[in-house]
Amino acid sequence: MRIIFHTGKGGVGKTTMSAATALKAAKMGYRTLVISTDPAHSLSDSLNIPLSGNPVEVTKNLWAQEVNVLDEIREHWGELQTYMSSLLITKGFDNIVADELAVAPGMEELSSLFQLNLHAKSGKFDLIVIDCAPTGESVRLLTLPDIVDWYVTKLFSVARTAVGFMRPIMMKTSLLLPDDNVFGSVEKLLKQIAEVKEIVNDPEQTSIRIILNPEKMVLKESQRAFTYFNLYGYNVDAILCNKILPDSEDPHYKKWAELQKKYLHEVDESFLPIPIFKNRMINTEAVGIELLEMIGDEMFGDQDPTKIMFKEQLQKIRKEKNYYVLSIYMPLVEKEKFVLKKNNEDFIIEVGNFRKNIVLPRTLASLSPGDANFVNGYLEIKFS
Ligand SMILES: Nc1ncnc2c1ncn2[C@@H]1O[C@H](COP(=O)(O)OP(=O)(O)OP(=O)(O)O)[C@@H](O)[C@H]1O
Ligand SMILES: [Mg+2]
Repeated sequence: MRIIFHTGKGGVGKTTMSAATALKAAKMGYRTLVISTDPAHSLSDSLNIPLSGNPVEVTKNLWAQEVNVLDEIREHWGELQTYMSSLLITKGFDNIVADELAVAPGMEELSSLFQLNLHAKSGKFDLIVIDCAPTGESVRLLTLPDIVDWYVTKLFSVARTAVGFMRPIMMKTSLLLPDDNVFGSVEKLLKQIAEVKEIVNDPEQTSIRIILNPEKMVLKESQRAFTYFNLYGYNVDAILCNKILPDSEDPHYKKWAELQKKYLHEVDESFLPIPIFKNRMINTEAVGIELLEMIGDEMFGDQDPTKIMFKEQLQKIRKEKNYYVLSIYMPLVEKEKFVLKKNNEDFIIEVGNFRKNIVLPRTLASLSPGDANFVNGYLEIKFS
């Protein structure tokens, strides 16, 4: 089974590309599910059919679902939430405020991943496409299993020990202690989180596709997201470049098309050799199955959209004793001279006529690049 996350800045075409990819795969015979995890769902509007919190059949081999985050929270976090809410009420919070505060950060997003887990285990689908919320959120979404796992494990091992010897004392005070139900539900939660981690971290199964438009701000945010996906070890296997304007004689659109050409070049510089799929701006709203199918066909041609399109990790960072090493995949430019330029988080590497633009993660943005060497197809640069 394959899992593809579609992520990108707001409005670039994530939902459109998710639906188009899913339709293409379904047409090729793959049992496909497309899930929207963005609380501001628009998958139903895009496909132009009503959807619900459970998979709804759209066409042959294709199902679609808009995750109902509130139901998911009740189901997976119910016990914990009730406990936290009662605890807050004993501390003087108003009922409604306590209920709101009891939704811990990350619960909503993780709930969507639990749905993914459920479907992945069901064996019903060959492909699951996830239409994510805008980029910043999806970087967070994919790192949440690790973070929440860490906090919950730490907090609850402390709580469990504390409960053991504090119960006799606390019985006399107003402090509410978590009971076995709460611990039971936390254990169930941790098991789910472990399963989600296994799925999203498996490079043979899961990949991320970044959707972008050839525009300055979109490109910058995509580079930043790409850096962080690399940092966390996720495989970005394709870039879907959307809303490319056709050439035009009209001076207004001619200017736009020229500007896009400049940024298309920068898209290449930032992401090649990752495959970049280019999609034109069609002459109407990309809504409804027929148009989405056309977009999917144009995008992939006779290629299989479920394939893992690229596997190499383009950027890697490791920490040595007192410096970091940034490695950039550059297999074709080995023996040449290179120039490094850094301006805060922007980092440019020039080798002959070849330029590579990247956005540095926070850890490196404040450091200076030093020695650089080619090692096994990677340019390794020291930062200290
Ligand atoms: N190639 C295209 N040609 C024409 N219109 C497009 C194309 N791709 C997307 N659109 C239109 O652009 C709008 C935004 O697209 P879409 O909803 O897919 O973006 P999104 O990234 O999912 O947005 P959000 O961040 O709000 O979830 C929609 O009206 C859609 O129909
Ligand atoms: Mg969307």
